[in-house]
Amino acid sequence: MQFHRCWLMALLIALVNRVTGLENVEAYEGENVILPCIYSKRPLKDVTIFWRFYDDKNVYSFSGGKDLEDEDSQFKKRTRLFPSEHENGNFSLLLTNVKASDKGEYSCFYPDDNFVQKVELKVNGGPHPVTTMLPQGNNTAAMGYENFTLLVAIFNFISIILKCL
Ligand SMILES: *[C@@H]1O[C@H](CO)[C@@H](O)[C@H](O)[C@H]1NC(C)=O
Ligand SMILES: *[C@@H]1O[C@H](CO)[C@@H](O)[C@H](O)[C@H]1NC(C)=O
Ligand SMILES: *[C@@H]1O[C@H](CO)[C@@H](O)[C@H](O)[C@H]1NC(C)=O
Repeated sequence: MQFHRCWLMALLIALVNRVTGLENVEAYEGENVILPCIYSKRPLKDVTIFWRFYDDKNVYSFSGGKDLEDEDSQFKKRTRLFPSEHENGNFSLLLTNVKASDKGEYSCFYPDDNFVQKVELKVNGGPHPVTTMLPQGNNTAAMGYENFTLLVAIFNFISIILKCL
């Protein structure tokens, strides 16, 4: 009985982890990284998008077809969006020359539909190791984040199961 309840809880937590859609992205210091923000519905023509760091620092504000240039000094001249991708609902952010202090939680807001996407950026020290796990990978730090969230969900699931035994 106790054991069954544990399984159910583990399954629930694994599911919630998937649904809340917290994206995990990893980068090495000095690299450029794309923080993903994909809005699956058809966005309005003239989009407004806000990227924030921990909900308070401005990372990028885009409205009326242009950069509002109100970003925090931490991100000055290091961020940009891909306006040609906006009509596809792709509001991803490019962050250049990643620093250790950039580590943390980012939020992408699309206020026209109260849409929020959170991205957790992990920053590894030093240059990117020469040997990577992806043999032909062209230094795409954002690659495989889908897999990563899935792995985290599976890991959480297994660790809870282990606690149940
Ligand atoms: C969103 O746009 C960026 C920049 O062009 C691109 O790298 C990324 O693959 C796009 N994502 C999707 C899901 O189309
Ligand atoms: C890596 O980049 C080079 C040149 O930019 C390109 O020719 C090659 O096809 C890329 N390889 C992969 C696996 O994307
Ligand atoms: C996971 O990674 C593999 C290889 O790296 C790739 O072929 C596959 O499409 C990825 N799956 C997801 C859900 O991203």
